[in-house]
Amino acid sequence: MKPQDRIFLISGGVSGLGLATARSLHSAGAYVSLLDLNADSGAEVVQELGERAKFFETDVSDTDSIAAAVEGTVAWVKDTGKSIGGVVAGAGVGLPGLIIDKSNTPLALSSIDFVLNINLHGTLDLIRQTLPSITTNTPSGPDGERGVLIMIASSAAFEGQMGQVAYAASKGAVASLTLPLARDLSKYGIRAVTIAPSLFESNMTKVMGAKVRQGLERVMEFPKRAGQPEEFARLVMECVENQMLNGTVLRLDGAMRMPSKL
Ligand SMILES: NC(=O)c1ccc[n+]([C@@H]2O[C@H](COP(=O)([O-])OP(=O)(O)OC[C@H]3O[C@@H](n4cnc5c(N)ncnc54)[C@H](O)[C@@H]3O)[C@@H](O)[C@H]2O)c1
Repeated sequence: MKPQDRIFLISGGVSGLGLATARSLHSAGAYVSLLDLNADSGAEVVQELGERAKFFETDVSDTDSIAAAVEGTVAWVKDTGKSIGGVVAGAGVGLPGLIIDKSNTPLALSSIDFVLNINLHGTLDLIRQTLPSITTNTPSGPDGERGVLIMIASSAAFEGQMGQVAYAASKGAVASLTLPLARDLSKYGIRAVTIAPSLFESNMTKVMGAKVRQGLERVMEFPKRAGQPEEFARLVMECVENQMLNGTVLRLDGAMRMPSKL
């Protein structure tokens, strides 16, 4: 699919990997609908991108909040006469915690729910609510494509570290749902692809302690550095444009495999 003149909903689209994706799609001529909690960054990004960018203050763990953002984007579809090309579900959080701590207290359920609600529930709900506006697109190209869904898992989907049970569960679930999602949607000409990055520069990783960061950099193979958000966005663009990418999880990690602890 060519991104030009199509609208993409991008959750977490005003920071890190989501923002780099928004910039790449926008510079390829797409319209970007940015869904994020952070209204200040939202206003800045819309000012930076100018035309063809809209921000909706959204909490992806709140189904009504997603509904309002999808409704606003659908109104934009009507105003512009463009169609929705797809979703990039980038909103995500990490909240480390051992399943049982030194004082024999189990991890709080609220902490597990917080992560699952944003990373898993929020991803599925955004896709679920946007789909009726994609299945009704006029099919395009020789294959009759209608749209593409791109999700973000993590290396933690495969080798979660100590303290990552909730995060790994959320990202493993996103990886697992990719194939059935593609299978459900194949009859509509809609693809589903998940990208699983290792360590990438972003606001999420900026707050890591020096020990954790150096530990991760030490186990990197090549290149021995964190990925740049633009390198992530390049793979998103390939996922949008390459129709043979479907129902799969693509690791983007420079061969890094996370050890149990750092
Ligand atoms: N950066 C990495 O090293 C890395 C590695 C693997 C996976 N990931 C995943 O990539 C995705 C993007 O992360 P990032 O590194 O760009 O982090 P980031 O913190 O820079 O961006 C995440 C964005 O999500 C938004 N967000 C958080 N909770 C939200 C909610 N409830 N509703 C709406 N928006 C919300 C934040 O406001 C922020 O703008 C996440 O899913 C993360 O788990 C990141």
